[in-house]
Amino acid sequence: MNYFDTFLWVAFPWLAIAAFFIGIFWRWRSDQFGWTSHSTQIYESTLLRISSPMFHWGMVFVIIGHLMGLAIPKSWTRAVGISDVAYHWIATIPGTIAGVAVIIGLVGLIYRRVVNKSVFLATSTSDKIMYVMLGLAILTGFFATVSLQLFGGAHGYDYRETISPWLRQLLIFNAQPEIMAAAPWQFQAHTIAGFALIAVWPFTRLVHAFSAPVGYTTRPYVVYRSRDIRTQPMRRHVAWEPVRSSNRSSSPAEKDEAPWSGA
Ligand code: HEM
Repeated sequence: MNYFDTFLWVAFPWLAIAAFFIGIFWRWRSDQFGWTSHSTQIYESTLLRISSPMFHWGMVFVIIGHLMGLAIPKSWTRAVGISDVAYHWIATIPGTIAGVAVIIGLVGLIYRRVVNKSVFLATSTSDKIMYVMLGLAILTGFFATVSLQLFGGAHGYDYRETISPWLRQLLIFNAQPEIMAAAPWQFQAHTIAGFALIAVWPFTRLVHAFSAPVGYTTRPYVVYRSRDIRTQPMRRHVAWEPVRSSNRSSSPAEKDEAPWSGA
């Protein structure tokens, strides 16, 4: 095992993981107001409405695929009666469809950023670096899947015998870089691109992935009510005070009362 392989398959992934966790902690402590997707929906929404759900829903399935393929040992899926060939196609067919959705969505998002002037002007250097690194991780992953899994015969390349145990052993401090050093170059390139993206994640708009508005689905309704007395007679007996407005008074009496009305 040479030093370069040890760097690539032991030091680099750990440096990326450290950068991720330290970076997330630092960003949260120093920049909570900047912790946002920096939405540009206000500038352009037609392309966004198509591309964004395609990209994000595709990514949800890609992430589920990664968790299944990398975290769950082969012996477990065999134990519940899923043959290796069945697993291969269960992973490859939906995975390829999800990958296509992610790529079409990403192309739409980037196209929109380039052609819409306001969205382009709202694109920072960090966004540009992020898009390049995200694109590399996605394209190398998709290329590995298509070239080795989809068109790689009935079994494809069995990454559950190599990449998955390599990652699990790495994470429990029992690094075995020789496994990754022998993996196909497509998966080597993808793993490096993946960890590089993980390393820059906290310093980009990708932090918004940890602030998905899940609470939105269960929060109480926000009730908006009219300020205009003419649309609804004011009920004097309620416990709260009526809302007053600076530019439109509810009643002549209120107008006189309003200290800011200049009357
Ligand atoms: C955050 C960074 C990453 C992104 C954005 C990413 C994205 C992708 C994409 C788009 C695919 C194509 C699969 C599909 O078409 O559904 C893929 C496949 C794959 N990725 Fe990643 N990946 C990342 C990190 C990693 C890492 C760090 C590893 C290894 C430790 C890894 C291992 C794999 C494997 C084994 C496949 C093939 C899955 C299959 O074909 O069933 N990925 N990845």
